[in-house]
Amino acid sequence: MEAMIVQFPDPRAMSEAAAEYILRAAGESVRERGIFSLVLSGGETPRTLYHLLGSEPFTGRMPWAHTHFFWSDERCVPPDNPESNFRIARDAIFSRAPVPERNIHRIPAEWGAGPAAEAYSRELGDFLLFAEGKSNYLQTFDCVLLGVGADGHTASLFPGAPALRERERSAVPARAPEGYRIRERVTLTLPIINRARRVLFLVSGEEKRRIVRSLLDLPGPDERIPASMVRPAGECVFYLDFGVGDRS
Ligand code: 6PG
Repeated sequence: MEAMIVQFPDPRAMSEAAAEYILRAAGESVRERGIFSLVLSGGETPRTLYHLLGSEPFTGRMPWAHTHFFWSDERCVPPDNPESNFRIARDAIFSRAPVPERNIHRIPAEWGAGPAAEAYSRELGDFLLFAEGKSNYLQTFDCVLLGVGADGHTASLFPGAPALRERERSAVPARAPEGYRIRERVTLTLPIINRARRVLFLVSGEEKRRIVRSLLDLPGPDERIPASMVRPAGECVFYLDFGVGDRS
């Protein structure tokens, strides 16, 4: 897999570097297009990053008025449920930084996976087809944050799942395998993720080393490791807080 890999000594250093990465992406996107579309991932790893973005010195440097937030996936729970990916961002960023309500494109997953996926796909379509005084052109996401599960999933795209073969819809219902606390979910699909200008994977913890090495050694996309199917049109970067050996 052609990707840039950056290894950090610990989760804090990785998160601070990720905050700088997002600031740079935001500045470039707003300069060039007047807007910055950022897709947040869920799970535990990005919590420190989100808290940094909601704190000085980062929060004063972010162009919040021009930053639009989306999610890679969401669990089908109410937005104030501790398992909600939206709630993690609300507590760390939206409750602390001046983000306009209209810039937060939450997945209404409490409606159930089917209706929520349809509503989110419509909202993505409305947002990504730009006609504000410019030519109609298809926007892509400026930056997509993703994690990797120990089973190789990313967003809520799980090994062998039907969602991996979706080519039309931007968001679809998903079902996590047995053993996951919240199984009913909504996820972005690969076509919209792979149109991104940038994908930043944040992966933390020695327990992820094996799956990341397998992923990086794959000659091509493999449904058994869905994260390997993320091959964005733009740059693809892995920030890791563990080593994966010499990649030259
Ligand atoms: C989710 C995430 C998911 C996550 C990985 C890694 O909703 O769970 O979007 O794809 O990024 O499972 O999760 P951790 O950071 O908790 O290891």
